[in-house]
Amino acid sequence: MQAAEAVIEHPGQPLFHSLAGTPHAPHAPSRSVDLLNRIARSWSHRAQVKKNEPDTLIDAGTDLPEFLEHLLPFHEHPRYQALDTDTKMRILSCGWIIYNEKTVAIELDIVSPVCQDILYDNVPGLDNELSKEIVCETLVDEAYHLLLVKNANRITRQRRQLEHIRIPQFALVRQMREEQDRHMPSWAGLLVRLSTAVVSEIFISDYLHQLSEETSIQPLNRATVAAHRHDELAHSKIFSELTRNFYHALGSTQKGFFASMLPKSIHWFADQELDLWLDVLQQLGVPGAQAMVEECRELNRVALDRLDYSGVVKLASEVGILDSAEGHAAFRNARLI
Ligand SMILES: [Fe+2]
Ligand SMILES: [Fe+2]
Repeated sequence: MQAAEAVIEHPGQPLFHSLAGTPHAPHAPSRSVDLLNRIARSWSHRAQVKKNEPDTLIDAGTDLPEFLEHLLPFHEHPRYQALDTDTKMRILSCGWIIYNEKTVAIELDIVSPVCQDILYDNVPGLDNELSKEIVCETLVDEAYHLLLVKNANRITRQRRQLEHIRIPQFALVRQMREEQDRHMPSWAGLLVRLSTAVVSEIFISDYLHQLSEETSIQPLNRATVAAHRHDELAHSKIFSELTRNFYHALGSTQKGFFASMLPKSIHWFADQELDLWLDVLQQLGVPGAQAMVEECRELNRVALDRLDYSGVVKLASEVGILDSAEGHAAFRNARLI
């Protein structure tokens, strides 16, 4: 949506009226502006797109697994443990493909659309040249990550004869879209996506750290994840600083709404994606897949316990979200504080 359309669609909404012709973020703390400036200036030295790509010819044969067993949500289930080695290797290969496709979904369905929202001046407080410069750099990074993970998946699919496996929609994206559909004003849909992007960009470094130094998997997989993580360490800082800048520029209704979305976004990110896994296990013809996944549902209810969400809570505290009644209640009701 263009900024001009937003004003027409939402007469009287301060959120969108505050966008037009505002050259600088009025509430941006100078420390935050300094930090964003330094991150923007360092992009050409830091960005992985400026470096050599991981060597796709590194091939350790088929003996080394593509992925880590303990990252499979059902790895402790007796039905999984009773499977033969060949089936387990095929499942691990799909685990790697799913892991990469989750990053594709985050880049394509969550982060890139939010970057476009910012570039179209639809996010108050970020309608300034510094924010747009850093968002353009981020978009280039994310496009490069798509290239990295799509290359990696193509190689794995060929090496393991898994070209036929189709990955359905992620619960992370489905739940975000269902939430967007529940709210009428289009600013609400924008803030749902913005919240999901902030949470995803803070969590993705840890998500990638699970494999970025792992020597027991295929070396190309480790190198791919390590390159991606290098950029994402900067992105988590960027999205934290952008949050400081846009949150204070929101109207009070929008502030409360955004605060209530952050805990939901954390839960969506923590989802173990069991429905998606069931679909893939059935494509692989794994016996007893339905029963195994059903018996793991309880795990998904405590998935949050395995996620370090302290970074999002710290950001919410520093930005002042936890000082508001709505923000504090949202985090407390979600058992995050
Ligand atoms: Fe990325
Ligand atoms: Fe990112």
